[in-house]
Amino acid sequence: MRILVLGSGAREHAIILALRSEQTPHEIFAAPGNAGIARDATTLPLDANDPVAVADHVGTHAIDLVVIGPEAPLVAGVADALRERGIPVFGPGRAAAQLEGSKAFAKRIMDAAGVPTGRAIHARSTAEVETALDELGAPHVVKADGLAAGKGVIVTSDRAAALAHAEEYLPGGSVLIEEFLSGPEVSLFFLSDGDTVRPLSPAQDYKRLRDGDEGPNTGGMGAYSPLPWLDGRFGSEEAFVDLVTRTVAEPVIRQLDAEGTPFIGLLYAGLIITDDGVKVIEFNARFGDPETQVVLPRLVDPLSGLLLAAAVGTLEDVPRPAFAEATAVTVVLASEGYPQAPIAGRALSGLDAATAVDGVHLAHAATAERDGGLVATGGRVLNVVALGTTFGEARDRAYRAIGEISLAGGQYRGDIAARVAATEAG
Ligand code: AMP
Ligand code: GLY
Repeated sequence: MRILVLGSGAREHAIILALRSEQTPHEIFAAPGNAGIARDATTLPLDANDPVAVADHVGTHAIDLVVIGPEAPLVAGVADALRERGIPVFGPGRAAAQLEGSKAFAKRIMDAAGVPTGRAIHARSTAEVETALDELGAPHVVKADGLAAGKGVIVTSDRAAALAHAEEYLPGGSVLIEEFLSGPEVSLFFLSDGDTVRPLSPAQDYKRLRDGDEGPNTGGMGAYSPLPWLDGRFGSEEAFVDLVTRTVAEPVIRQLDAEGTPFIGLLYAGLIITDDGVKVIEFNARFGDPETQVVLPRLVDPLSGLLLAAAVGTLEDVPRPAFAEATAVTVVLASEGYPQAPIAGRALSGLDAATAVDGVHLAHAATAERDGGLVATGGRVLNVVALGTTFGEARDRAYRAIGEISLAGGQYRGDIAARVAATEAG
């Protein structure tokens, strides 16, 4: 197939690497891509957020499937423009992407579908925020209603800080004040063709910047998959996945279809396992980053077949995707100043030594070629991804590899998959 992947992050690089690992070779294009993606795909100077530009290009270049990586093109209506021209596209249209684009929309869909989630109050003024904070009590959870790249959320017991965070988004916008939920978090992805859903294997993301879940929220600083500790709570990973498929994914997909906005693409359920059951914290309308970097390397079935089946509405004919038992750990290398004010333009080296470590590969995010070398061009620079037979092995490989990489001021967490590795050792 001729496949175009839109986006320029490590998630898109992971998707491209999965497509390349298939037995059947594909012609893979990426727009705009990055320095790492350029080694594995033909990059195109195309504005991925411009529906007309993308549709025109695809129409004249015999592309069989378009895979939309990030949320921005979805919300911009790129999938709609492609579908109007009859081009198979993996990614929801603008209306269904509101599941991610608007937290208030997502809450309404969940209520209508009877999906378990925390209580939330939609507030549009300081007075409404204050009433909601007092009604739901501390710790306070305040979320910007629109897209905020994982940075629009604050969780704090400090009422003044919660109010100040809300006030940043109130001019011209609104916020959700949510009930605080406590428990381990799980990211679970579902392929959807608008009607049928097929689950992938769960992963855990590390959202905070620093070890021990300290520091500000980020887009995600590391991840691992699978989650062996689900067995103790639910009997098996499969039992957990079945439960979430039945109580979360299927009702939401049915609700969106009933409203005339079918969801074709990747439904990302951000879940929290509370004493009161599994609840939804958020939905995204695309693959998670960095979770994709640990889920796709474990996928046994060819990714292209799954994405195409979702795009053309034949997921019902496809069995549930199978995953290898291997463990996968990814650690994100971020620039100094991330997430508030990342410093760009610094030299990046040691990548060959990193990939020389057994079981390790890299997924590039913000990298570019300059003067024959590589530079970091933004916040999350790249992911080291390591596979192993145990989490101890995968973790050891990932940290040996990242230790080979030099980036002045670079930051990464040292505790990714530490707890799960300690549990398996004991
Ligand atoms: P979100 O962008 O909605 O995924 O929120 C980012 C992070 O904030 C989540 O991964 C949680 O760690 C935390 N968070 C969000 N909502 C809640 C909640 N209702 N209760 C507790 N923590 C939350
Ligand atoms: N890792 C969180 C996200 O992709 O939104």
